[in-house]
Amino acid sequence: MLNIPAESDFAALQARGAAFLGSEYAIMGGAMSWVSERHLVSAISNAGGFGVIACGSMPPAMLAAEIAATQALTKKPFGVNLITMHPQLDELIQVCLAAKIGHIVLAGGIPPGPALRAVKDGGAKLIAFAPALVLAKRFVKSGVDALVIEGAEAGGHIGPVSLTVLAQEILPHIREVPVFVAGGLGRGEAILSYLEMGAAGAQLGTRFAASAESIAHPRFKEAFIRANARDALPSVQLDERFPVIPVRGLVNEGTKRFMAHQADVLAKFQSGELDKTAAQLSIEHFWAGALRRAVVDGDIESGSVMAGQSVGMVTAIQPVAEILSELKAQAVAALVARGARG
Ligand SMILES: Cc1cc2nc3c(=O)[nH]c(=O)nc-3n(C[C@H](O)[C@H](O)[C@H](O)COP(=O)(O)O)c2cc1C
Repeated sequence: MLNIPAESDFAALQARGAAFLGSEYAIMGGAMSWVSERHLVSAISNAGGFGVIACGSMPPAMLAAEIAATQALTKKPFGVNLITMHPQLDELIQVCLAAKIGHIVLAGGIPPGPALRAVKDGGAKLIAFAPALVLAKRFVKSGVDALVIEGAEAGGHIGPVSLTVLAQEILPHIREVPVFVAGGLGRGEAILSYLEMGAAGAQLGTRFAASAESIAHPRFKEAFIRANARDALPSVQLDERFPVIPVRGLVNEGTKRFMAHQADVLAKFQSGELDKTAAQLSIEHFWAGALRRAVVDGDIESGSVMAGQSVGMVTAIQPVAEILSELKAQAVAALVARGARG
């Protein structure tokens, strides 16, 4: 049901984030390697959100082609997410600037100074992930234009702290730049509550990965529909001498085999068959290509089915526009119910 005051209240809460992104909703589609390509990114931007291409390990020419193909599908703004460890980060930034990308997200660590300056000098806005308040403050000082705070509930590579805590730690203290919240968000009421705490907007991944426009394999999307929040668990590290980067995804044969693989490598290290470097590399290589196998080939048994705890709120394959209008309707209904309670 249309309720104009509640709708305009919700729009007002999103105004800063929407103005920053140049979109109708202050909702970003979190970049997801192999998933966030031209079709999903343009669908999110065309529906009023803000799509973000996941560059992942793409070389510069491939990124340039993906950007051009996305621009052919939407006239609305969208961003590009680059991983700071990429060996050609500088070239990738130049590709984005040449294509007039207005927003560059630097993920996977602290944005290196030269990369930060290149983005800013090129006239694009820089968005960075802040895993703690001290870093958020440092990023703001160094000229970052917006922050994403991503809780451990999120899908993919995660930090140790939940969004509930990060939001309380960071939102009251960072006013200089817009802050977007991410991780575990599946409903409009939750987005509304973070906007009211001072967030400028939200970033969602899992719900869009299962959307109709996502090119993820049908088996990948079906796994999302079947899964409950408790099925999306972080990868487990067996021995602290051999660190495992925490990645949240659906438990499957692959995650079980990863435990056995770590135990096997550990035994070989202890017997002297493998030295420390070789053992660490063997553990790191276990998941090489595994996300692609799950997303593209539909191997949801041994592939890496990255998903956030929000996967429990994925109940159907829906068009992106329906997901966005559902989120809005839930937020507006919450505001209306509050008004009705007086
Ligand atoms: C399948 C998958 C792949 C992802 N890949 C990336 C990535 O390449 N770069 C990145 O910065 N974040 C990545 N993420 C995190 C998302 O951008 C987003 O922040 C996260 O999904 C938000 O949490 P949610 O899944 O609970 O909505 C990925 C998430 C998923 C589910």
